[in-house]
Amino acid sequence: MSDTASHTASDVPPAPAPAPATPPPFRPGLEGVPATQSAICDIDGRQGQLTYRGFDTAILAAQSTFLETAYLLIWGDLPTAVQLREFEHEVQMHRRVSFRIRDMMKSFPAQGHPMDALQASAASLGLFYSRRALDNPEYIYGAVVRLLAKIPTMVAAFQLIRKGQDPIQPRDDLPYAANFLYMLTEREPDPLAARIFDACLIIHSEHSLNASTFSARVTASTLTDPYAVVASAVGTLAGPLHGGANEDVLAMLEAIGSPDQVEPWLDRAIAERQKIMGFGHREYKVKDPRAVILQSLAEQLFDRFGHDPLYDLACALERAAAERLGPKGIYPNVDFYSGLVYRKLGIPRDLFTPIFAIARTAGWLAHWKEQLGANRIFRPSQIYTGSLPRQWQPLDAR
Ligand code: CMC
Repeated sequence: MSDTASHTASDVPPAPAPAPATPPPFRPGLEGVPATQSAICDIDGRQGQLTYRGFDTAILAAQSTFLETAYLLIWGDLPTAVQLREFEHEVQMHRRVSFRIRDMMKSFPAQGHPMDALQASAASLGLFYSRRALDNPEYIYGAVVRLLAKIPTMVAAFQLIRKGQDPIQPRDDLPYAANFLYMLTEREPDPLAARIFDACLIIHSEHSLNASTFSARVTASTLTDPYAVVASAVGTLAGPLHGGANEDVLAMLEAIGSPDQVEPWLDRAIAERQKIMGFGHREYKVKDPRAVILQSLAEQLFDRFGHDPLYDLACALERAAAERLGPKGIYPNVDFYSGLVYRKLGIPRDLFTPIFAIARTAGWLAHWKEQLGANRIFRPSQIYTGSLPRQWQPLDAR
């Protein structure tokens, strides 16, 4: 560089820093802040309507299967008969998990929560299938198939391992939901029970940008592998304000004890500003349409396999809460009746949230694929509330 050139450059006054833009107002919990564009799922929280790719979930729960709905969510359209057969076949072929993963699960503490076991085992899939080719549709298809196939096997395997038993191998002749129930008990489930369980998976499979799906999209935006995407979402789903609420609902109903205790219990809980588990939703100001479907599924199960007195208590709580919390737009959400359905199906309580994860894997994968299609890494800003710059004090001067 010549002297003249360097002299001229150092004489140019620095360009003034652009004036700081006024930051948008801070919205705790990002309430009402669009964080992505998505064509997967739409919620009308005032009418209580929920659609997947334009289809009413009530129709899907009645007419579709979980794997068909998963295909719809992930690829945007209902599959043809050939596409569905191939997809079901591929998922069925990948249900087994490596003995190394089963051995790893045997080293988990038996009293550990199955959601923690699931998060660890989902993440471990990345060790076995590490080739990452996010721009290759075959890689995407393979990862979708593997995750949908193996997550239920891992949930069922931990259930048996923690009881000191060996996991049951999947049954190739059984459809998705029936095979999961079989792997839990080694008994082929009643067809109505399997059909109702499949409908539960459908209505839990997607719900727009909830906390775990947001977590999945943030993780996906770094272009990491899909196993890390699902593992991060499983960890997020586990919390009691999200998927974990379904376990707490049964404990709450048992604590209330009897229908005549509902009103005093509720008045006390409201006075103490407790959150009533299974009630309230950021998006819905009416009863969650999934709660409506689950309630009807619960009734079908009771008609067939016998009544559950906790259901009468739940209905009494819903009525009492409508008077007291309804004016604030707080009504039953998806978690309110799901536990009663799973209890009637004989499923242990701490598997309710892992079952939510089995279903929601479809939605997480749909969002993973959508995020990859128009990716930009998530990197929001913050409003700094800490100290102004200050002087470092050596240890002996503090
Ligand atoms: N019981 C009593 N009051 C409630 C409830 C509830 N379940 N939910 C919300 N409220 C009240 C809350 O106290 C607050 O009142 P105020 O304005 O007087 O302080 C107001 O409603 C707004 O509550 P929020 O906590 O700011 O609402 P949010 O949108 O941040 O939270 C929620 C939504 C689902 C976390 C919350 O309703 C809740 O904690 N519900 C109980 C846990 C639950 O059932 N979770 C499952 C959610 S659905 C499935 C899923 O997404 O996984």
